[in-house]
Amino acid sequence: MESLTLVMNNLRAAFENMKGSEGDDPPPTLPVVMPNGSAVAILRALVPEDADNPDLVRDLTDWRRQFMDYFLSRFSPTEVRTQNRLRELSVDANRIFFLIYTQDGELVGHYALIVHDEKTVEVDNSILGARPPVRGLMVHTEHALLQWVFQNSPDARVIANLLQHNVTCFMMHRATGFSLVATTNLRETVADNGDRLLRPVTDGNVDEKDACLLTLELDSRAYWLARNEAGYP
Ligand SMILES: CC(C)(COP(=O)(O)OP(=O)(O)OC[C@H]1O[C@@H](n2cnc3c(N)ncnc32)[C@H](O)[C@@H]1OP(=O)(O)O)[C@@H](O)C(=O)NCCC(=O)NCCS
Repeated sequence: MESLTLVMNNLRAAFENMKGSEGDDPPPTLPVVMPNGSAVAILRALVPEDADNPDLVRDLTDWRRQFMDYFLSRFSPTEVRTQNRLRELSVDANRIFFLIYTQDGELVGHYALIVHDEKTVEVDNSILGARPPVRGLMVHTEHALLQWVFQNSPDARVIANLLQHNVTCFMMHRATGFSLVATTNLRETVADNGDRLLRPVTDGNVDEKDACLLTLELDSRAYWLARNEAGYP
């Protein structure tokens, strides 16, 4: 019990530190490095002020529209909706939404972490929206995030959910050591606000139009092995 509490406190405290505090402090960052040690990008946690940056809001809206088919909620993105979502995400204590910048300060994508409980973290909402500065940027980015998670919480279990047709995302997660642990059939439903949502099928019937969700999992042992195999010191 004591060690679980410690893990939870470590994770929650790490999330809190990474999200930064209000005021004049510059937002915290995490470097993305290649196995040879060269820094290739910077991860910066979203702050509430980002919702007032029109260029950032425009890029994120465009990217969500472009990659809609890879996500479980489908809707018509607008800049106002993106702004509202960014405000919510920036203050959600259970999530860190990282913006990915090149060393020259160009926004190229994003990637989020969600803490579910005392041991479980989910990697979520990854998008590479612009030309990356190096090959394999998103794999290096995932390494930076996973290293941070497991350094803060060696007992953590990290999960990733993705649609079966998302081969590039599957490859990215495989490269950092994730393994498939479950599949779930999903069917489209329509929410009150008109959003289309893919939800688990509960009636036991399988329809050929159903989508399939893959759940992958990673623990620290598998992660450090994969990191070693990737050539990181
Ligand atoms: C999942 C994802 C982050 C993985 O990124 P990735 O590992 O770079 O894989 P991709 O297959 O997309 O990239 C293939 C190549 O095209 C390049 N590329 C990808 N997006 C690009 C863009 N917007 N502009 C220019 N080049 C791009 C990449 O650099 C990569 O080249 P590399 O192999 O030399 O590194 C990325 O495919 C993506 O953003 N997909 C759409 C959103 C998505 O599915 N998110 C996950 C939801 S679960």
